[in-house]
Amino acid sequence: MSSRSVAGAVALITGAASGMGKATAEVFAAEGAHVAVTDLSAETSEPVVAAIRAAGGSAEAWPLDVSDPSAIEAVVAAVAQRFGRLDIVVNNAGISAFCPIDHPEYDTVWTRALGVLLTSHQRIIRAALPHLRKSDHPRIVNIASTEALGATSRDSPYSAAKAGVTGLTRALAVELGPEGITVNCICPGPILTGMTANVPDDDKQTYARRRTALRRYGRPEEVAHMTLSLCLPAASYITGVTIPVDGGLMARNA
Ligand code: NAI
Repeated sequence: MSSRSVAGAVALITGAASGMGKATAEVFAAEGAHVAVTDLSAETSEPVVAAIRAAGGSAEAWPLDVSDPSAIEAVVAAVAQRFGRLDIVVNNAGISAFCPIDHPEYDTVWTRALGVLLTSHQRIIRAALPHLRKSDHPRIVNIASTEALGATSRDSPYSAAKAGVTGLTRALAVELGPEGITVNCICPGPILTGMTANVPDDDKQTYARRRTALRRYGRPEEVAHMTLSLCLPAASYITGVTIPVDGGLMARNA
C-alpha cells in the first residue's frame, strides 16, 4: 500500500521564511521530511530552521532569490548535495503586484511579477528535474492564487502571472507524467500571512464575510496541509490539478 508519510523525503520550499512557506516547512518537518528552507536572506530563514530543530525536525536554511537564475541552480545543487536527494519542490515565494494598466510603471511591475511568480517556477523545476527523476515519489506543488481563477481590479500583473502558474502546472503534469512526476497547483484564497498583514482587521472581516463560504480568512497551515497531501507517496494518481484552498470563495456567488 502507498505510504501516507513524507518521512525521509527532502523538500525544497521557496519563500519559506514567512506565511504559507513557513507553515509548509513546519508541517513537512513535523511529518519527518528534511526541509530546505529558502528565502531572500538566510537571516529571515534561520528562525524557522531553529524552531523546526527545537521541535525535533530536520531543516537547513539557504538564501535564494527566485528571480536569480544562477542562484536557483546553485541552491538546488547544494540542497541535493547536502541531503543526498531531492524529492519535493514547493514553488511558493511571492510578492504583491497591484498596478493599474495605465500606470507609467506598469511594464516594470509586470516584468517583476512574471519573474518572481511564474518564470521562477519553471527555472526551479528545470534545476530540480535531474534529482526528481531519481526520486521514488517525485512531487511538485506550485502555489498560485484565486486571482488565477477570478480577478481583482488593478491586479492584472499578479493575476496574469498566477494564471500562468496554472497553465505551467497542467503542461508540465502532461510532459512529466510518463516519468511519474506529479505537478499540481494550489490556489489559496485570503490567508493571514505577511502579504495580507497590512489589510486592517475590519476590512479583512468584512471581505471574508462577504466573499467566503466559511466567513473568515484562512490560516497558513490550512494551505500547508493541502500541499503536504499532494506530496504524499499515496497521492500518486493526482496530477495537473488546480485546487482552491479558499474557504469556499470561488464556490460562492452570494
Ligand atoms: P508572505 O509575504 O508571508 O511570504 C512570502 C515570502 O516570499 C516572504 O518570506 C518573502 O521574503 C518571499 N519572497 C518574496 N520575493 C522573493 C524572491 N524574489 N525570492 C525568494 N523569496 C521571495 O506571503 P504568503 O501569503 O505566505 O505568500 C506565499 C504565496 O502565496 C505567494 O506566492 C502568494 O502570491 C500566494 N498567495 C497568497 C495569498 C494570501 O492571501 N496571503 C492568497 C493567494 C496566494
